[in-house]
Amino acid sequence: MMQRKGTTPTTFDLFADDTRQSSTSEQIGPRSFVFRGFALPLIDRLLPSLESVLTRAPFRNMVTPGGHTMSVALSSCGQFGWTTDRSGYQYTRIDPQTGQPWPEMPEVFMELARAAADAAGFADFVPDACLINRYIPGAKMSLHQDKDERGYEWPVVSVSLGIPAMFLFGGHARSDTTQRVPLFHGDVVVWGGEDRLRFHGVMPVKQAEHPQLGEQRINFTFRKAR
Ligand code: SIN
Ligand code: FE2
Repeated sequence: MMQRKGTTPTTFDLFADDTRQSSTSEQIGPRSFVFRGFALPLIDRLLPSLESVLTRAPFRNMVTPGGHTMSVALSSCGQFGWTTDRSGYQYTRIDPQTGQPWPEMPEVFMELARAAADAAGFADFVPDACLINRYIPGAKMSLHQDKDERGYEWPVVSVSLGIPAMFLFGGHARSDTTQRVPLFHGDVVVWGGEDRLRFHGVMPVKQAEHPQLGEQRINFTFRKAR
């Protein structure tokens, strides 16, 4: 459907020893892929781990340096969490809302991030930050680059859960045309290498209900911040 001309969806084994699960992938850039349903085999472990992270670091609507309150609510886990306020964007070790370190990255989150990066050709990814975004219907994320990390040699691994969203994948200039990539529960997108700094965003999420997550979309983005 969103297949680029000249690319063929390929079927591959998600985990070498688990042939019951397979998934299709789409290439959306030289080093960017969408892996459909990639997170589904881990979903029963992901959701309780997410709950536990959110108990310790609840979602909050942060303010941008420009003074705009984000429609997407955020949390983080891992060694570093991403924050924004009037003074700017930054990665911190402490959650400014609780005064505590960000919750540890659950083992299953790490497993998923590593497997997806590996499938995209980025072996041995060890993310130290996982941003957790919650979109309620109407929430969106404007086109931006992920560039608050210290280096760009590692990819961004992005996991979609809950209701669908239209992901916009642009180029290296904000004005470049964007590909529209519909993302569903369990889909994982990886972009790295020469694609690492491509602009991307999410269109306003449409009203819908997901059987497990209700009227929301949760997105994880794994990065190597430091
Ligand atoms: C992000 O760019 O941080 C989020 C992307 C998404 O929600 O799919
Ligand atoms: Fe981003």
